[in-house]
Amino acid sequence: MQSDIQRVLFDGPAIHKRVDELAAQITADYSGRELTVIAILTGSLMFMSDLLRRIPLPLKLHCLSVASYGGQSQASGKIIVKQLSNLDIADRNVLILDDILDTGNTLTTVRKELETAKPRSIQVCVLLSKRKRRAQHVDVDYNGFEIDDEFVVGYGLDFMERYRNLPYIGVLSRELLEQSNQ
Ligand code: IMP
Ligand code: MG
Repeated sequence: MQSDIQRVLFDGPAIHKRVDELAAQITADYSGRELTVIAILTGSLMFMSDLLRRIPLPLKLHCLSVASYGGQSQASGKIIVKQLSNLDIADRNVLILDDILDTGNTLTTVRKELETAKPRSIQVCVLLSKRKRRAQHVDVDYNGFEIDDEFVVGYGLDFMERYRNLPYIGVLSRELLEQSNQ
């Protein structure tokens, strides 16, 4: 598995240090308010689990998943949000968690869906954000790391559903990416 990774961007200790900082910031910002965390699976699973255990506030957790249809590339696909039923967020302070902000399509779609349920507030937290021109602008309130526009895996992030269990975040080898584009 290691040989499929071109280079490590953030090792386990670096990720945990940054997650500690984000958790402290969120804890301070939301003190005295009850939070509803909405995590977008599967990519945010490790991040969600490490982050939430470091936030000593009363909170509710709900997980959503998204599916893209109509094209291989995420940029062209229509995004469908699943597990939206039973989601009672009226008048709640919502914090959306996602693994990575790329084109912005996923977070824009999820945010629009959640807004129809009339929450009191919505903020967005991502572990990673790619430095690039996005298809849709997304306001991010908490950002773990900014990275170049490269395909990364590990710590929840996948390539064809693999590599999620790597304890670090690394750039996928060019050969593998090119093979999948053929
Ligand atoms: P967006 O809708 O293009 O912003 O993409 C968001 C989703 O695409 C993320 O939640 C990831 O599931 C996936 N994604 C985007 N870039 C990467 C990457 O570099 N590695 C793994 N997954 C990615
Ligand atoms: Mg994903």
